[in-house]
Amino acid sequence: MFFKFIYSLTFVTVLLYASLLFAANETPIHLDKKNMRDGCASCHMGFNFSDGGGAYRCVSCHGSSNFQAGYVTQGVQLKDITKDFSKNYRHPVFDKKGQHSAREVLPEIDPSVERHVTCADCHSPHFVSASNPYAGISGKKVGNLVTQITKEYELCYLCHSDSANLPVKSTNKRIEFSTNNPSFHPVEGEGKNQAVISLIRPYREKKSSAGDVSVLKCADCHSSDEPGAARGPHGSKYQGLLTDNYSIEDNAAESDFAYAICYRCHKRASILGNESFTAHSRHITGERGFKGGGTSCYTCHSSHGSVENRYLIRFNRDYVTESSTGKLKFVEKGTYTFHGECWLSCHGVDHNPKTY
Ligand code: HEC
Ligand code: HEC
Ligand code: HEC
Ligand code: HEC
Ligand code: HEC
Ligand code: HEC
Ligand code: HEC
Repeated sequence: MFFKFIYSLTFVTVLLYASLLFAANETPIHLDKKNMRDGCASCHMGFNFSDGGGAYRCVSCHGSSNFQAGYVTQGVQLKDITKDFSKNYRHPVFDKKGQHSAREVLPEIDPSVERHVTCADCHSPHFVSASNPYAGISGKKVGNLVTQITKEYELCYLCHSDSANLPVKSTNKRIEFSTNNPSFHPVEGEGKNQAVISLIRPYREKKSSAGDVSVLKCADCHSSDEPGAARGPHGSKYQGLLTDNYSIEDNAAESDFAYAICYRCHKRASILGNESFTAHSRHITGERGFKGGGTSCYTCHSSHGSVENRYLIRFNRDYVTESSTGKLKFVEKGTYTFHGECWLSCHGVDHNPKTY
């Protein structure tokens, strides 16, 4: 009975896929007989079409290796993805069921719709290929046109930018990463800077030789804490689904670990050596009679981009308030001169302003 359903449903579709296969210069991974022992039935046996099949179907092959054997063609070795999804910070694909639909249009326009994410939201099972992991995923609707996704950040923006159901504490990532901002981590394109003194190779301001990396992926910061794990922002033991730890609270001691995510690309010795901001070390380590303990990078810097200031300056209002004259701002004094002033109040110290 189930197969009858599948076959009637797929009669036209099979023809469609046949033509797609013919058009594509590369066979989609899951339609390649040498990967899938049971062809379409590898996934469609006992499949629930109303919610995209859920994640369990996928992990019969992408899960633990003793389980894989019965499903994957002999000799194919897949990474166990379930490990990352069992960590504290993860995309909640196994936490909730039944909210995905193949017909849904993202970003969500109805604020009352519950947020969800499943494997099929990020991977189109019929089209995913080695050269284009986003093949087959529909992007943002522009007028009547639905675009196809080619870049990782476009995928993420489906749920982390203009969604009407964005969690209250979450910000619009499209606005944060806009290359029109005074500063941004270079995800949509290269940054505008000539010199970011602390950068560690291969990260560079501009690409000038083959190995240079001047454009980042979200997954460069958001993916597994284990280097050997599957690529992608599936899950991590670190808060924020980050590859490394990030302490965002103030009054903590500075260490390699506390700000590990930043120190992966920005030389700790440069930051603490005050090569740019002359009072970096004093704030971060809380040395020389500094009131309270250290200050997290997060108190002064946005992780993604700033719509107001250069150098990703964005003050964390949990700790920073207006100065005695009611001002809260950062003013740069000349480009690359490492001089500026701050108007604010923090750790009970009035900056009205303080200059460096
Ligand atoms: C890797 C697993 C996998 C394989 C292999 C696979 N499918 Fe699917 N298929 C899915 C998933 C998951 C969905 C639901 C997608 C969604 O809801 O976004 C789906 C949906 C469908 C649909 C419904 C489409 C729609 O828009 O509602 C049809 C029809 C279909 N598959 C046919 C096939 C045929 C024919 C084959 C073999 C050529 C095949 N599938 C192979 C996983 C698979
Ligand atoms: C029957 C086994 C099987 C099932 C079920 C299955 N896959 Fe796969 N998948 C494979 C194989 C085999 C590959 C190819 C791996 C390779 O070549 O390294 C693959 C590759 C992939 C890749 C691409 C990896 C890359 O190299 O970029 C993604 C993404 C993926 N699968 C997601 C899914 C999702 C999502 C589902 C559920 C809808 C699913 N798979 C179900 C066997 C399966
Ligand atoms: C289909 C929707 C969807 C897509 C696409 C999506 N996400 Fe998510 N993401 C979620 C949901 C749902 C959560 C759980 C928290 C929430 O509701 O925002 C989440 C959580 C996260 C978190 C953890 C947030 C926290 O508060 O700790 C990060 C980081 C994240 N996503 C990054 C990404 C990245 C990077 C991409 C693109 C590769 C992406 N997401 C694509 C739906 C999505
Ligand atoms: C340079 C590293 C870096 C890159 C690149 C990056 N992030 Fe983040 N992201 C962070 C850090 C650090 C945090 C945790 C602190 C915070 O909330 O700012 C974070 C937090 C988040 C959160 C949880 C907080 C919230 O506002 O909901 C989401 C969701 C997120 N990032 C999505 C993305 C997406 C989507 C991309 C790509 C378009 C991306 N990030 C690129 C470093 C990065
Ligand atoms: C929020 C979006 C998102 C979700 C949800 C998600 N993935 Fe991924 N996944 C990605 C991204 C992004 C990559 C990296 C693609 C690239 O850069 O090649 C990836 C990579 C992969 C790979 C290739 C890993 C490697 O190292 O070869 C597999 C396999 C995979 N995902 C399977 C799954 C399965 C199975 C699920 C559900 C249990 C799932 N993914 C859920 C975004 C997602
Ligand atoms: C994966 C590498 C990577 C990580 C991780 C990373 N950065 Fe960056 N960062 C860069 C690159 C590349 C640039 C250069 C951008 C440019 O040229 O405009 C940069 C630039 C900056 C700038 C200067 C921006 C400007 O326009 O002046 C600041 C400030 C900064 N990062 C802070 C941080 C903080 C804080 C963290 C930790 C939360 C962090 N970065 C994590 C790669 C990274
Ligand atoms: C008290 C606020 C404050 C704190 C805390 C802070 N910064 Fe900064 N940072 C600044 C200011 C101001 C500048 C701009 C200096 C200038 O005028 O060029 C800056 C510039 C930078 C730059 C760009 C220039 C360079 O050095 O490459 C990076 C990267 C950076 N900070 C990283 C960090 C990291 C990583 C941390 C945490 C370990 C941190 N900052 C903590 C205020 C702060």
